[in-house]
Amino acid sequence: MRSLILAAAVFALPVTALAQEADAPLDLPPVVMSTEHPGEIAVEPYERSNAHAGATPFEGTAMLEAFHGIEGIGRVVDATIDLSIEDPRIAGTFVSHDMVRLRRVLKEQFAYILGAPIDYSGRDMATSHRDIGLQAADLGALVENLQIAMSREGVDFRAQNRFLAKLAPMKDDVVTR
Ligand code: HEM
Repeated sequence: MRSLILAAAVFALPVTALAQEADAPLDLPPVVMSTEHPGEIAVEPYERSNAHAGATPFEGTAMLEAFHGIEGIGRVVDATIDLSIEDPRIAGTFVSHDMVRLRRVLKEQFAYILGAPIDYSGRDMATSHRDIGLQAADLGALVENLQIAMSREGVDFRAQNRFLAKLAPMKDDVVTR
């Protein structure tokens, strides 16, 4: 269905017209394609703020260097997501969510916190995870995958632990069960 909606956007057809022609009723809420980020499913409007990143950035460039800059951060985020969507403990959580958006905003969030000159454009952590119903064990699994990803990138353990300490207080917003 997503490809239908994408095709409709590309050809500037009203999505509703397509839906009426389809045999089966729409099983997704109506979406409006975001022209700002092609390939992503638009979300409800919200105000943007770096405060939504959930942590204050590190000062200086040491942490950014430990992660090998913005490109290294991108590799860490991609590897964390790749591991998580294949991880039987938590893979199901990511099904039917927009992974294109998640990769983009997670890279922004990590880069912002690690001190890169980048703004975070995503939603706050409570709003983002409110309806997912995560448990502490889910967070533990994700953090393990992040640790594997950081180690593969060659991020030294001190920097890994400093970063994890920044994420730790987000637990209250992310874990809801
Ligand atoms: C401290 C830990 C975590 C951080 C920093 C984090 C960060 C984020 C960010 C930045 C977003 C995107 C917000 C947006 O779309 O505007 C997001 C969404 C999401 N996160 Fe997390 N997350 C954490 C923990 C987890 C865990 C443990 C899981 C599952 C095991 C998870 C699953 C998801 C899913 C499925 C979405 C997509 C929600 C949607 O489509 O609306 N997150 N997270």
